[in-house]
Amino acid sequence: MIIAIDGPAASGKGTLAKRLAAHLGLPHLDTGLLYRAVGRAAIDGGIDLEDADATAEIADGLDVASLDESRLRGREMGEAASVVASHPKVRKALLDLQRRFAHQRGGAVLDGRDIGTVIAPGAEVKIFVTADAEIRARRRHLELEKRGDAPPFASVLADIRKRDARDAGRADAPLKPAPDAHVLDTTALDVESAFAAALAFVERHR
Ligand code: C5P
Repeated sequence: MIIAIDGPAASGKGTLAKRLAAHLGLPHLDTGLLYRAVGRAAIDGGIDLEDADATAEIADGLDVASLDESRLRGREMGEAASVVASHPKVRKALLDLQRRFAHQRGGAVLDGRDIGTVIAPGAEVKIFVTADAEIRARRRHLELEKRGDAPPFASVLADIRKRDARDAGRADAPLKPAPDAHVLDTTALDVESAFAAALAFVERHR
């Protein structure tokens, strides 16, 4: 069974994908990490994030096994990822490895922006996780406070709105629910309730 989970930044899709995968015994791929890794390598190598050819070359040579999550999680990496993710050549370079991951072990949970629309349009279960931008910013802000690294709330909210606009506005694989996706609005849900709702969608397809 392939489960596609898409949604905007800080919607809770990552937490949900991880929990579903653990619960169902399926491998999980956070596809945002791929774009973050391309952004990170470009910055480290002094390559302009707007350079589609050079960043696509990095994407071509990306080794999923060596992704170091701890260096990819920061705020700036989300922003860098979103810039390189707007280049069709970068997206094309990352397509096959995501599809291989989805199919190689007879099932998987993938989360990102275009899993249900582009990477795995035939996925048995598609969930589009969303929440009000203010709530997403509040959750992200809380997370950063816990790490002792919180900028003002207004700047977290501005970041989220900017990333939403770029991800939803790009020409290639924009952020949007697949026509057959279950939309899960987590604005008023805690992690447990969101997980229960997602699991109910999965059970319907078993
Ligand atoms: O989900 P995360 O915040 O890690 O994603 C970082 C960025 O990578 C997103 O803002 C988006 O631009 C890009 N991305 C994408 N397609 C995916 C996953 C992430 O374009 N499937």
